[in-house]
Amino acid sequence: MAKQATKNANLKHLLSPIKIGPVELKNRMVLAPMNETFSGHDGQATEQMVSYFGARAKGGAAWVSTGAIMGTRLSSKFVWGRNIYLFHEGHIQGLNLLTDRIHYFDSLATAQMTIGFGRQGHSYDHTLKVPAPSAGLPYEIAMEKIPKTLEGLARIVEMGRLFMVGQMTREMTIEEIRSEQKEFARSCQLAVIAGFDVIEIHGPHGYLEHQFLSPLTNKRTDLYGGEWRNRKRFLNEIMEQIRYACPGVAVGVRISNQEYMEGGLTIEEMIDVAKDLEARGADYISLSAGGGYEESGHLITDKDRAEHLPESAAKFKKALKVPVIIASQHDPVKSDKDIASGKYDINALGRQLFCDPEYPNKVASGDIDKIKYCTYCNTCVLRCLSGAPPACPRNPIFGREYAMDEYKIGPRQKHEDVIPKGIISLPMPALERPWWKPELPVLEKCWRKFTGPGPR
Ligand SMILES: Cc1cc2nc3c(=O)[nH]c(=O)nc-3n(C[C@H](O)[C@H](O)[C@H](O)COP(=O)(O)O)c2cc1C
Repeated sequence: MAKQATKNANLKHLLSPIKIGPVELKNRMVLAPMNETFSGHDGQATEQMVSYFGARAKGGAAWVSTGAIMGTRLSSKFVWGRNIYLFHEGHIQGLNLLTDRIHYFDSLATAQMTIGFGRQGHSYDHTLKVPAPSAGLPYEIAMEKIPKTLEGLARIVEMGRLFMVGQMTREMTIEEIRSEQKEFARSCQLAVIAGFDVIEIHGPHGYLEHQFLSPLTNKRTDLYGGEWRNRKRFLNEIMEQIRYACPGVAVGVRISNQEYMEGGLTIEEMIDVAKDLEARGADYISLSAGGGYEESGHLITDKDRAEHLPESAAKFKKALKVPVIIASQHDPVKSDKDIASGKYDINALGRQLFCDPEYPNKVASGDIDKIKYCTYCNTCVLRCLSGAPPACPRNPIFGREYAMDEYKIGPRQKHEDVIPKGIISLPMPALERPWWKPELPVLEKCWRKFTGPGPR
């Protein structure tokens, strides 16, 4: 992997490599998972999307993550606008163009995989009930909870207004939960075949996995609801199954640090969740903040909350052995200091890399005075939620990377693997396990030590 220049010795912590499971990151700056809505209407990769990610890889990010990829057919029916889909072989080709572009520019490709949006999903058919942990719990965002910069959302277009209110929910059956989990595990295998180096399970921000955890949205009385151990079961089983399905591949989980809602998930509970995930083979925990759409602080961490995230992450770090990633730390000097003092390990930059994809390169070359900082104007978010592709007032190239020669791919480079590790050297098991068994034994990381033809 190409070494980055480190003229600015002061930021050596931000620039130091780190191992996550079997992969090594060249520095501590990664692209946060963001659904940039450049995919096609049926979830396929587009040139606009591929070149957007290519630009972030070229900008020096150690890994480039997709936003939430819909990992089952059912989940793809309940989304918001446009998301990437990956649940059958036909999706591999487009996503391979994406991972190829990322690898060409010497970054790692991370697939953030979601099993569903639950009560936060929307269907084109508004009469359909949304599959969720519990029935009769649609969300509703109070106008006063909407950040000032997004107030226009409910006024501009009908789509924005629809976002304010969720569709009616129905309770997922146990059989449905199990078949969704199995399909999801298979889709994560497809992600490895498509060339992704890292699988991130999407568990934050009030989406389906989070809904099962929270007493506010999980009112079930069966083995997936009620007591804490039962509410954790859905996510814990997913972690076990993906660990089993993708041996030797880096697998992490993104969760919220707490729910910030009365009666909602606390930081102590979320630390407990993180410990469970680590015990089941998670290679890292990525922390974001907040509950779901009703809580409203989650998606676009505001400045105040971002400032508190390192302190909160430090509590997770104390309880865990695996690396901890946190979102929304735009100041590289502070980030370097916090990493040095052990509060967290990796900085996931979201809107900041919409605004300036060259941020990591500028940190590496010591040109931090040349960084264009995100002003939290949220034009990008407003556009995405209204159905338009995002744009940034500070970055005229954002969304038009496809028109720039500098982000085009060329001949295979020396650092690129011709045979992606995931396909050949780490054979994946057939998914014939008895998924219906309520408590799978904890699967150890020993799958990685396996050198034979692969568990079948
Ligand atoms: C347009 C947009 C889409 C997002 N989509 C996702 C997503 O798909 N998955 C996820 O975990 N977080 C998502 N996020 C949250 C970001 O990963 C990140 O946590 C947040 O933007 C705060 O970081 P920032 O201040 O650097 O933007 C999204 C954020 C934005 C702005």
